[in-house]
Amino acid sequence: MSVMQEISSNVKNMKQLEYSLLAKWTKQIKEELRQGVKKPYKDVIDVSWGDPHRAGVKPLTFVRQVLAACLYPQLMDSDKLPVDVRQRAQRLLGKCAGGSVGSYTETPGIPNIVQRVSEFITRRDGGVPSNPKNIYISPGSQWALVNILNVLVNPEVSPRTGVLAPVPCHATTILSIMRQGAAVIPYYLSEEHGWALQVEELHRALELAKGVCSPVALYVINPGNPSGLVQSKKSMQDVIQFVSEKRLFLLADEVYQDCVFGENTKFVSYKRVLAEMGPPLSETVELASFHSASKGFMGECGLRGGYVELVNLDPAVMKCIYSLFSSDTCAPVLGQIALDLMTHPPQQGDPSYPLYHQEREQIRATVSQNVKKACEVLNSLPGFSCQPVEGGAFAFPRVYLPPKAVQKAKEEGMQPDTFYCIRLLEEAGVLTSPGYEYGQKEGTYHIRFCIMTHQEVMDELLRRLSNFHPKFMKDFS
Ligand SMILES: Cc1ncc(COP(=O)(O)O)c(C=O)c1O
Repeated sequence: MSVMQEISSNVKNMKQLEYSLLAKWTKQIKEELRQGVKKPYKDVIDVSWGDPHRAGVKPLTFVRQVLAACLYPQLMDSDKLPVDVRQRAQRLLGKCAGGSVGSYTETPGIPNIVQRVSEFITRRDGGVPSNPKNIYISPGSQWALVNILNVLVNPEVSPRTGVLAPVPCHATTILSIMRQGAAVIPYYLSEEHGWALQVEELHRALELAKGVCSPVALYVINPGNPSGLVQSKKSMQDVIQFVSEKRLFLLADEVYQDCVFGENTKFVSYKRVLAEMGPPLSETVELASFHSASKGFMGECGLRGGYVELVNLDPAVMKCIYSLFSSDTCAPVLGQIALDLMTHPPQQGDPSYPLYHQEREQIRATVSQNVKKACEVLNSLPGFSCQPVEGGAFAFPRVYLPPKAVQKAKEEGMQPDTFYCIRLLEEAGVLTSPGYEYGQKEGTYHIRFCIMTHQEVMDELLRRLSNFHPKFMKDFS
């Protein structure tokens, strides 16, 4: 079986496992706990999703106040809401047709919000201009990615269209690429080097794809999910040179751009690096950059607000993208509003600023603490190693499973790290997800868990893991 087929079937199998095994077990355990069945824990800690609110992070007050006032404008008549909240809600409603969040909007989004997203991008990128005409707001960034893939992938050609994607990778993207009828061309991030993206590996992967598929695009996630890598500028420049040389479209998934924890680490966008590289690259490399209200400190996954900015695309392709995006009329208005709030948070001097700042800094400090503790604890446990988590929302440690555990998993017809996750769930009440789900080098095993939780939840999770793990290793030694 080729590596590409292997990755594809892994993902398909993984989905079955994920839903049929871990979800089924979780449901059953929760039901047993509800019925009073005695277990060594009182609840299940679910850190298997990249969903901060699910993991216990509280929504930002400012965000919820503006959303509430937009949904129920009568709230603006009272002085219960700070004046800048009321002003913001009033302004946003003024941009909605009929003054209501219940109305359709233009396909790319409410023009004023699209404009403000583009102002945010320009500010973020140190003045590199952003044109609102190149921005599409979508029901989450994944939806936008699927539509861009739709333009890039021709399901009828032979050999098949290919898309380079990292291993490990956000599993939904792999499924999205496959659903479009394209082949996934895996390139491996180097775990020994903190999950670095090495350009030699891109060359190797592309070489392997020769004759198998016709590569059209390279997908990168920065900061990484699940890797936690924040790419250096040099690495990004190498990637840009590579896509230019190989005439590939660059898909930059930058949804975790706000989640950077490494002490000397900084997020820089692909758009900015590309612009700074100057012509001809800055005028020729085709780029789609994705961002979302789901991630970062807002974590409003359920509102479904994302956007894509397109750079250097042919006007004919832009027209095609417009018609694809219009297939769903528009993104949810509350998601669009969330993007306005994410890109224009309260500023010093605004009545909402002190609380907003306090809540945001508290989340930032908690997550930084969580990352530090998680890495320390994991690296102190024999049989675990965790690369530094510089950004993103996850820890993705490697677990060195004893041969007897691998054998037992095989006998039970499951992947070894799925087996580990099930035991961790059953015996310690911690729901993580197996590395198998994201792709990993053969013979290596990992687990992934969300680090955007309350400090107490993280402490309890690490306590349970520290008790469970040595026992598991002993049982199978
Ligand atoms: C790398 C990456 N991209 C995209 C998404 C999806 O984001 P959205 O909710 O904006 O569709 C996720 C969600 O976990 C993700 O991890």
